Amino acid sequence: MFSPENAARKSLCGGKPDPLQTQGVTCQEDPSGGNLWDTFQLLQIDVDCESSRDQFTSNENGCSRNVLRKQRHWEKIVSAKRSKRKLERERRKAKHAEGKGSAHQLSKRELKLITKERLLGARETGPWLCIDLSMTSNMTQKETSRLATQIRRLYGSNKKAERPFWISLTGFVENSPIYEACLRMNDGFANYLMDVTPESYLDLFPSKTIVYLTPDAEDALEEVDPHKVYILGGLVDESIQKSLTLHKAQREHLQTVRLPIQEYMVKNANAKNYHSTTLAVNQVFDALLSFHATKSWEEALKAAVSPGKGYVLREETI
Ligand SMILES: C[S@@+](CC[C@H](N)C(=O)[O-])C[C@H]1O[C@@H](n2cnc3c(N)ncnc32)[C@H](O)[C@@H]1O
Repeated sequence: MFSPENAARKSLCGGKPDPLQTQGVTCQEDPSGGNLWDTFQLLQIDVDCESSRDQFTSNENGCSRNVLRKQRHWEKIVSAKRSKRKLERERRKAKHAEGKGSAHQLSKRELKLITKERLLGARETGPWLCIDLSMTSNMTQKETSRLATQIRRLYGSNKKAERPFWISLTGFVENSPIYEACLRMNDGFANYLMDVTPESYLDLFPSKTIVYLTPDAEDALEEVDPHKVYILGGLVDESIQKSLTLHKAQREHLQTVRLPIQEYMVKNANAKNYHSTTLAVNQVFDALLSFHATKSWEEALKAAVSPGKGYVLREETI
């Protein structure tokens, strides 16, 4: 009858009738429970007892001293391996127990709840941010798609922030190209925790609380005031429609500010001699979020103004 034990012996002895067994010798059992054949199999040693016996002097059990010496040698190795594995198991167990004892790891559900609470908290306390999507009708399809992507990134940054803003998409008209692009390109857009409305920010907030961010403003933004509403122009153009938002905000008698890039950064010498202080909406928002959390413009601008804009922090030039 086939049994692993028999098969083992057969293989150990080169497939021939087991000379050890025929002489009343069973293959030695490993003291720790495993069959010695396992050991040989593990170490890929193929020992032919008969040929060994031919070459060396046999002991009283019929196996040569050489084979027994080898057996003892490999037994030692296997036993060392076994102890190493045991130690490794114990180390893993200890590490696991240590992890359980330390700070409670938040589940996905708990994290989602915290995010929701933070966002809803910002709706109550501010600061508020609107993306003005009333100027998107002249944008190309490519620009519209880029803007939808920037809105997704902006929302993603806000969700991760410890001190988020409450976001509104204003001038957001149902079935418009930007509406379609947001739904098509941004997974879960319908469930974003933000306000969306076709109305203008002028209909939603008192004018004196509104601050329009535009790269062409004269004054630099100094503080993020939780009682103000910050407006970003929903545009991706950088040169064609220069000063578009500045002129719009001026017509609406709103305060206008720019990021303090010139105050904290200097032009970097670069091969293309390209320098621009006009950022994408999500980059401007990242600067606002970072400043709101750290109160450091250096930190905020370093994170938001990419090297491609041709500006570096003043301190980096020293
Ligand atoms: C790609 S820019 C559009 C620039 C466009 N020429 C304009 O007239 O606003 C998108 C929006 O990001 C904001 N923005 C970009 N760079 C800015 C900066 N340096 N300071 C303040 N706001 C900025 C503005 O709200 C701007 O409308």
